[in-house]
Amino acid sequence: MKKTIKKVVVAGGGLMGAGISLMFPEYGIETVLYSVAEKDFDKAGKVIDKSLAALVENGRLTRQIADEIKEKIQFTVDKKCFENADLVIEAIPEIMDLKKNFYEEVSELVPEDTILASNTSAISVNQLSEFVKFPERFCGTHFLNPPHIIPLVEITKGDKTDQAVCETLYTLFKDMGKEPVLLKKDVKGFLSNRLQFALLREATYLVEQGVADPEDIDRTIKYGNGLRYTCSGPFKIADLGGLSVFNSVAKYLYSDLSDEKSENHLLDELVEEGNNGISTGKGFYEYQESDLVNEEKTRDAMILGILKAEKELLA
Ligand SMILES: NC(=O)c1ccc[n+]([C@@H]2O[C@H](COP(=O)([O-])OP(=O)(O)OC[C@H]3O[C@@H](n4cnc5c(N)ncnc54)[C@H](O)[C@@H]3O)[C@@H](O)[C@H]2O)c1
Repeated sequence: MKKTIKKVVVAGGGLMGAGISLMFPEYGIETVLYSVAEKDFDKAGKVIDKSLAALVENGRLTRQIADEIKEKIQFTVDKKCFENADLVIEAIPEIMDLKKNFYEEVSELVPEDTILASNTSAISVNQLSEFVKFPERFCGTHFLNPPHIIPLVEITKGDKTDQAVCETLYTLFKDMGKEPVLLKKDVKGFLSNRLQFALLREATYLVEQGVADPEDIDRTIKYGNGLRYTCSGPFKIADLGGLSVFNSVAKYLYSDLSDEKSENHLLDELVEEGNNGISTGKGFYEYQESDLVNEEKTRDAMILGILKAEKELLA
């Protein structure tokens, strides 16, 4: 039976937890952001403030509603918050032992019918479900960054997940204006990260082979494939292009594509040298300190603009 969600606890006061938490108050759902340390809320508060500011600047919310949302989010390090939660969304670091301890402890704190959901980027839902008491109430809910702007949320059903749990979350997110996709079974990386990493594997292979620089590969996606991907996915694109062409190209090209099985060499080199991308000033590109704010602002404005244009065009 579907469950009514009146109270959500988002666990993990980091980038994703903060973004996920700000979506619920607008829909009358009591929202708690739980984290391990009070200091986490400095960062979480800043993420929430700048996310709400972007929604106001881009006409998605009024300033008044944005202020009300911020006021309604309860920040706490007190585990009592779990005692009457209808839904817990876990967004703690992607470290197996941390997740294991979290689920073993929180399973005991929440009522038996509380839905537990993980925002893990890639860890198997079946594997995590081993740490959950009553695993039928556990599933994956993978939001993409920035979660309050990107409509997609991947709901993954584990082998033990009750179908009603997935249906409850599907309806909840749909009612909140998201675009949930329900995976019929568990798979590492879910849909979006499998597709993203297949593309990244080929992109870095092309750089390694000296075919193009990261800039030109990014431009190829931004001004080519990416524009089509805002309208549809690979299957509709193939249907529109003609399946016989796609079939011939697949037969000719597949054996030439990267099938690297163990690691991404370019990523590995950069990380080994202490580079983490924009946050450390160097990744595939070089960055100044002000770039972080500007890149995020541009990204948020463009995504919100595209979504608004789509709504208006298809109205
Ligand atoms: N960053 C992304 O782009 C992104 C996108 C999609 C999914 N995810 C996934 O979301 C999850 C969180 O990622 P993030 O980038 O927000 O991480 P983060 O490091 O920014 O935040 C994690 C927060 O959880 C807190 N925390 C640690 N242990 C905790 C515990 N036991 N209980 C409560 N809080 C705890 C940390 O102090 C920190 O504030 C990960 O599983 C990650 O793979 C991340």
